[in-house]
Amino acid sequence: MYTEKVMDHFQHPRNVGEIENASGVGTVGNAKCGDIMRIYLDIDENQIIQDVKFKTFGCGAAVATSSMATEMVKGKSVQEAMEVTNKAVMEALDGLPPVKVHCSLLAEEAIHAALWDYAEKHGIKIEGLKKPKSDIHEGEEAEEEEY
Ligand code: FES
Repeated sequence: MYTEKVMDHFQHPRNVGEIENASGVGTVGNAKCGDIMRIYLDIDENQIIQDVKFKTFGCGAAVATSSMATEMVKGKSVQEAMEVTNKAVMEALDGLPPVKVHCSLLAEEAIHAALWDYAEKHGIKIEGLKKPKSDIHEGEEAEEEEY
């Protein structure tokens, strides 16, 4: 049911962890299943994403899409990172089963939430970026297990 790439990223997820003093952090919850994801971005003065890490309490498809999404935004400018949509991530993974498509939204939303956090802290505007709907603030989340 899963492609080889999905299995690879699920079994060997890239960029798991956290970044201390990250430039931007985004935490989102999936309304459909209650799973949670947090993305940390380290962005330099030229607005290039130097490093990215994620943690999730989510299913295998959420792990695989986050892993792929982190690889896709690393080294990109914040504006280019806006092009890493859930659709682009799914394509890079050679697809997801239809019932798992909603899982790929977590990664996109978490990246957007982290970019929003970065933009707010630095007083900049990222074209096309909207205020995250489901950003969860520290201390509000339910019991969270780390991946
Ligand atoms: Fe919750 Fe996949 S079932 S993110």
